[in-house]
Formats: sequence, structure tokens, C-alpha cells
Amino acid sequence: MNVYFDNAATTAIDPEVLKEMVNVLGSKFGNPSSIHSYGREAKALIEKARKAVATYLNASPSEIFFTSGGTEADNMAIRSTIDAYNIKYIISSPLEHHAVLHSIDEMVKAGKVKASFVKIKKDGHIDMQDLERLLKEHPKSLVSLMHANNEIGNMLPIDEVAELCAKYEAIFHCDTVQSVCHYPIDLQKTKVHFIAGAAHKFHGPKGVGFIYVNGNLKIHPLIYGGAQERNMRGGTENVAGIVALSKAMELAHKEMKEHAAHIQGIKDYMIQKLESTIPGIEFNGDTKGCSLYTVLNVMFPPTEDAEMLLMKLDINGIACSAGSACTSGSMQGSHVIEALGKNVDSRPVIRFSFSKYNTKEEVDFCIDKLKAFFKQPVSA
Ligand SMILES: Cc1ncc(COP(=O)(O)O)c(C=O)c1O
Repeated sequence: MNVYFDNAATTAIDPEVLKEMVNVLGSKFGNPSSIHSYGREAKALIEKARKAVATYLNASPSEIFFTSGGTEADNMAIRSTIDAYNIKYIISSPLEHHAVLHSIDEMVKAGKVKASFVKIKKDGHIDMQDLERLLKEHPKSLVSLMHANNEIGNMLPIDEVAELCAKYEAIFHCDTVQSVCHYPIDLQKTKVHFIAGAAHKFHGPKGVGFIYVNGNLKIHPLIYGGAQERNMRGGTENVAGIVALSKAMELAHKEMKEHAAHIQGIKDYMIQKLESTIPGIEFNGDTKGCSLYTVLNVMFPPTEDAEMLLMKLDINGIACSAGSACTSGSMQGSHVIEALGKNVDSRPVIRFSFSKYNTKEEVDFCIDKLKAFFKQPVSA
């Protein structure tokens, strides 16, 4: 059996999305900037996709800009806002994705801004009182806090944060890469200035994403070039990718409730199986509380070959991750687990992340392998 439990890193493309993408790649090859019929046809596909994305998010099509993925969207939200609004202060958290943290680092190193990172509670949620204290000290700053953490799954009270930001006239960027198309997002209700999305996190292709920029903002482009994306993002558009992103979004919204219930069932089943078969197991984050149904971060009991667990699982046909995909290859400790203040000495930390394609039989298979590695008596 081969088991793919690394869906927070990327998801398998849905066959219907692939079909649509191949069709566009094969027959709609015009450059959307060309004025002839081929170009107009490609341009129309992009605009149709933009309208669809805007509809699912309850935004205006003029507020959606296609990008190369989540990283570019995060970079754009941070870098372009600092330049356009002469931002001097950023408030973020130590749990953010590197797309956010490294963008902030660069801006700080360049001397453009100062940054503070909000305190984190034991369960991985941000300390709202500390956030308010920082906002009070630094009103009109840029706040960048993620909607759902890609390593531990914790979810932000996004509306509460948006209200606080409004109170202190801050600009609020929310990295929604792990939550968009898994949870409904209504941008008429949720008062954010930016959100970011990446198609490959919801069964679309890699290398395409979007940024929502609230219509009241006027920011500069991150990538300069042609007049594409209404002068906000130079470069010939990834037409097939954009069409595929919109198709993946359509499919995700069609059966969101059913998929959410199915995946939550897989996560709950895995929690129950782990707790009943491997004594001493712990979960990182607010696993049974306000947490993504797709992500389960597990801290195993101490073992001599902690670093080998991921590899052993891989050899046995189970793909999962030690943290975010960008750091898992280097076997560096996760900055997220470190920020939680956990003592992980000799304790392997593994992120299992699920999709609509996973089954309880796959969980059973994985538990059997884990039981053997930890040589615990079989129960439950
Ligand atoms: C929370 C979060 N933000 C940003 C990104 C980066 O997205 P992309 O891989 O499309 O650049 C990821 C991807 O892992 C993510 O999980």
C-alpha cells in the first residue's frame, strides 16, 4: 500500500482539473496580451477564472490578481504595502510560513521597517492581549498573521484580529494558503486587506496562486514588466494554471462540507488510534480545538533513531513530513515547534496531513507500521 499523508505540502491534482488544464495547454495557446482572436480567447479564459475566484470569495474581480503561488502573494502583500504606504512597523508571529517571515527579515535588514512578533500561548494560539498591546504601541502598522498554520493546524480568530486591526488603523494581511477552499471565506464579512492562495493546496496545479487586494488599497507591483494583471504583475500569464486554479476552486466549493466531514473523520480516527496504541504520544497545537481538519502534528515518545522515523515511514510506503516542505529536506528543527517551547529531545515530530482521497484503511496501515517501530503492546 502507498499512503500519501503530506497534503499540507501539496495535494494530488483532481482528474477533472487536469483535464481542463490539458485542454487549455493544448488548444488555447494564444498570448492573452495579443489582440488577435487567439489572444482574446486566452484573455477571456483568465477573466472568466478571475470572476469565478472573486465569486467564491465574495470579492470583486478587480480585487483578484493571479500570481505564481502563495509565496509570491505573501511577498507582494508585505513588500508592496511597505513601499506604497510608507509602513514603518510590522506585527507578525513566530509561527508564520517562511514566505512571510523571510520577507519581513529582508525588509528589516534593509532598514525599511521594524518588526515585533506577538506572544504565542502554549496551545499555539496567538495571545490576543499581546497583539492589542503591540497595536496600541504601533498603530497604523502592517499586521501579517496566518489564518491556518501549515505545521500544527491552529486557526486564527480572523474576524477578531481584523476588528483589532481596524481599531488601530492597521493594514491586515492574512496568509490563507492552508484554509482557502477548505473553509468558506467571505470577504464582505471578513475585513482583511490581503489574503493569499495557492492552487496546489486544493487539488490544483503547482506554480499558480492569487492575491486578494482590498479595493480600497493602492499598492505597487512586486514584479514589474508588461501591463498584465492591470499593471499589477508583469509577465505573460499562466493561462492553463489560472483556469485550473478556478476549476479546482469550483470543485472544492461544490463539496466542501462533505470533504470536510470526511477528512475530519480521518483525523479523529488517527488521533484515537495513536492515543490507544502508542503510550506517551502528544499532539502539537490545539489539535482537538480550533485547528485545521487536514493537519495532525504528532510528537512521538523518545527513540534512539528519532531522525530516522520519517525515512522509515517512507521506506514503508507512507509519505508524511517533519514540518513544512521547505525545511523537511534539511532535517532542521521546525521554527514552529521551537516557538511553542516544546522539548523535542529525541522525540520525532511528524506532520500527517490529509485530503479527500485518504481513507481509514490507510490510517490502519500507518498505525500498524508505527506500532512495529515503537514496539508497543497492541491494544484497541
Ligand atoms: C501557510 C503557507 N503559506 C505560504 C505557502 C507557500 O505557497 P507556495 O508553495 O504556493 O509558494 C505555503 C506552502 O507550503 C503555506 O503552507
